[in-house]
Amino acid sequence: MNPASNLILIGPMGSGKTCIGKRLAERFGLRAVDADRELELRAGARIAQIFEHEGEAGFRVRESAVLAELLSGDGLLLSTGGGAVLAADNRRLLRERGFVVHLQVSVEQQLERLALDRSRPLLARGDREQVLRELALTRAPLYAETADLAFDTGAAGAAEAALGLAQRL
Ligand code: S3P
Repeated sequence: MNPASNLILIGPMGSGKTCIGKRLAERFGLRAVDADRELELRAGARIAQIFEHEGEAGFRVRESAVLAELLSGDGLLLSTGGGAVLAADNRRLLRERGFVVHLQVSVEQQLERLALDRSRPLLARGDREQVLRELALTRAPLYAETADLAFDTGAAGAAEAALGLAQRL
């Protein structure tokens, strides 16, 4: 990992980007930043509301802007939203501005971790398992193309996964 820049976590919903990110940030002396949370602060609205009023397209415009803003600096442990890799410009930016780790997770684990979640609009689009499987299929190549390292979080909790990942960096 290039210590002068940023450590960036990408991967699907429920892969543990935020929880693992906080722990890794402590370990490496980086500032933990969650791109979705920063987006919500700037918009003064929750992600579900943005999807409702501006559609997914509006949300993606905001997402790209926040990523560009945050990644103009160094020293971040940046946790991104699951769809941050959809835009080619974002993928290029992530690669240029940090060491990118793809947190891998099975759909079964996602379903378990997100069972109580009502904040993610994409999950409300249909049968959850089907939605997650389709997203996994279409996005797997984008995560692979963007990441410097892939790390399977398996069934481990955030603390254990962070420890395992730290050893690979
Ligand atoms: C999304 C993932 C979410 C959030 C939004 C869209 C996606 O972030 O950005 O609901 O497209 O996969 P998390 O990956 O943090 O859940």
